[in-house]
Amino acid sequence: TPRVFSGIQPSGDLHLGNYLGAIRRFVPLQETHETIYCVVDMHAITVRQEPDDLRRATREVAAAFIAAGVDPKRSIVFNQSQVIQHAELAWVFNCVARMGWMARMTQFKDKAGKNSENVSLGLFAYPSLMAADILLYKATHVPVGDDQKQHLELTRDIAIKFNNDYRDSIAAQNAGDDEGAFFPVTEPLIAGPATRIMSLRDGTKKMSKSDPSDQSRISLLDDADAIAKKIKKATTDPAELPHDVEGLASRPEADNLVGIYAALSDKTKAEVLAEFGGQGWGKFKPALADLAVAQLAPMAGEMRRLIDDSETIDAILRDGAERARAIAEATMVDVRSIVGFIR
Ligand code: TYM
Repeated sequence: TPRVFSGIQPSGDLHLGNYLGAIRRFVPLQETHETIYCVVDMHAITVRQEPDDLRRATREVAAAFIAAGVDPKRSIVFNQSQVIQHAELAWVFNCVARMGWMARMTQFKDKAGKNSENVSLGLFAYPSLMAADILLYKATHVPVGDDQKQHLELTRDIAIKFNNDYRDSIAAQNAGDDEGAFFPVTEPLIAGPATRIMSLRDGTKKMSKSDPSDQSRISLLDDADAIAKKIKKATTDPAELPHDVEGLASRPEADNLVGIYAALSDKTKAEVLAEFGGQGWGKFKPALADLAVAQLAPMAGEMRRLIDDSETIDAILRDGAERARAIAEATMVDVRSIVGFIR
């Protein structure tokens, strides 16, 4: 069966980009795939986190999954640090991946800035842990936003190099597929109108947790009032909406708001423009605000309710971790013998 894995970092406020680029897309995949959704707390500590904040943010991400419609019985929902095999496989991958591969990662370069001597070693090795997350479950498909594309290419490179480096041992252990490969070469699922949601203040900057302006993003915990205000204040150009998608080229703010409307209504941008083309922002923004409030405000309420019931959330994460561990350990039994570790 095709298997989906995706992860979200518990490192501060979840926002509309996380929802439309990833979490919302997790839900329908439950119909067609085996689905595993992970709160990647070990990734979060690559930059310093207050322990209490980390606990709260971990429950917040789990609550968002569930409030969005991920069913923790059908899907496996867990936090990464409860399945220690992630760390074990990441070490093996640290020894397969090359320094040069990691040094080329744009997310590392952005986060490290000019002062790369003084960031954690974990931040540099981050993509190796991400490859371990995915390949531990031999996941075939990974739904993510556009910003994770390069990390997924690296995951493919690690799978290919492991399969080549250990080709003979994989054969000797009888652990490969028809082509002798142990790990699958994973397909990214980066599709739809919302793979890269931009800041509401500046259509050329990605919507992100780290933007100092609260007005730049819609938080998944925002109430109806805040959601509507942020959309009405969003930066736009003065022109009216175009009639076709080509008319959005070089209009980043318009492109972004139309993309958000499309994603929230499960339409294409072309369908949205067929409805709103030729109209001004005075018509479109209130319609978008109504749509966003109708979808996001109830979800925020449900998230709050779940976060307050931390015992239930923690029990869901424990149960998910147990089911994840069974799959992960089966992979590691093979990996240990392939590599040559004695048991
Ligand atoms: P993270 O926690 O930064 O983001 C979680 C998900 O949200 C997507 N995303 C966006 N999508 C559209 N527009 C945006 N502005 C936007 N901002 C964020 C991200 O692409 C991501 O899908 N490295 C990953 C976490 C991770 C992971 C994994 C993902 C760890 N292991 C294994 C997939 C598989 C990250 O930092 O995502």
